[in-house]
Amino acid sequence: MKALVLSGGAGTRLRPFSYSMPKQLIPIVNKPVLEHVLDNIRDLGVKEIGVIVGDRAAQIAAVIGDGSRLGVRVTYIPQDAPRGLAHTVAIARDFLGDDDFVMYLGDNMLHDGITAIAEEFAVGRPAAQIVVHPVPDPRQFGVAELAADGSVVRLVEKPQEPRSDLALIGVYFFTPAIHAAVAAIEPSARGELEITDAIQLLVEQGATVKASQYHGYWADTGRVDDVLECNRKLLDGLTRRVEGEVDSASELVGAVVVEAGARVVGSRIEGPAVIGVGSLVEDSHIGPHTSIGRDCVLRSTRLEYSITLDGATVTEVRGLHGSLIGRSASVGPAAGAGQHRLVVGDHTRVEVAA
Ligand code: DAU
Repeated sequence: MKALVLSGGAGTRLRPFSYSMPKQLIPIVNKPVLEHVLDNIRDLGVKEIGVIVGDRAAQIAAVIGDGSRLGVRVTYIPQDAPRGLAHTVAIARDFLGDDDFVMYLGDNMLHDGITAIAEEFAVGRPAAQIVVHPVPDPRQFGVAELAADGSVVRLVEKPQEPRSDLALIGVYFFTPAIHAAVAAIEPSARGELEITDAIQLLVEQGATVKASQYHGYWADTGRVDDVLECNRKLLDGLTRRVEGEVDSASELVGAVVVEAGARVVGSRIEGPAVIGVGSLVEDSHIGPHTSIGRDCVLRSTRLEYSITLDGATVTEVRGLHGSLIGRSASVGPAAGAGQHRLVVGDHTRVEVAA
């Protein structure tokens, strides 16, 4: 079995971050989403992984490399434009050969692993096995209609009137039967070759298509609120580890990780929280549910339920909540009393106390 991980795409819902970095590299508990994905695949015993990359290929390769650090072998497969999930299967045809494979969307987190579903696929070997999860608003997803025995009756991509609440959640197991179906479909109304349509074709041709309900924690990290919530959820599993320096005037409460080279001075860190490699936290109150990236500086600041990416600086700002602060961004007091000064990029969202 091989794996195909999708790490191209445009990431418009994650602006402004996706202007400068691929959304699959957004950190959850200081580890890129894509690394969480590759860990899950390695846990299946799958080593050969094709990674679809778009115009951010260089950034992804700089972090993931040849995969050896993560115990896998990565082959990069460039996609010229986001032409759809089924298009990625078509361009990976040579890499996939006639092997079974798992296709995994590089921005989806299935934190509790997918080994049980992989075993189900290996035993029954249906032409396709999809993974579904009930969601409150299925209109933003591929939606599955199932028969009582768990076989798939119908799949529709982002339907206006969904016939069930079961969303496809970014993991698909296939036999090579999928290739003929991918070759036979036409682009959808949004101009993409939809994997949902290819699987629906298999259903219409009478092939066995199964669905497994995922009972673990799942998140599509395509939007800022999902990223923060996913970070909160994973931080809840944190165990305390202190490798950096914490002075005697500081207090660590609960599950706090202070990574190597980080310094905590005169501060209270309320777990679960992570202070990344080389960061400085001074006279501040951080957490709970907060991840501080590498080489950040936080001074006289109160920050909770938030993420700061590498190199961010926050000075003298209290009451920050639910914030995602980008790489090397700087947040601090204005020079003029009673004034606010904003230098914010395109599609940035700033909410200030009224
Ligand atoms: O999150 C689950 C949903 O993912 C499913 O319910 C839908 O059926 C499925 O179509 C997909 O919908 P999205 O609109 O969320 O897909 P998105 O454009 O975010 O792409 C998913 C991942 O695949 C993302 O990591 C980017 C990558 N991608 C996407 C396209 C269209 C590629 O690598 N190449 C592409 O051409």
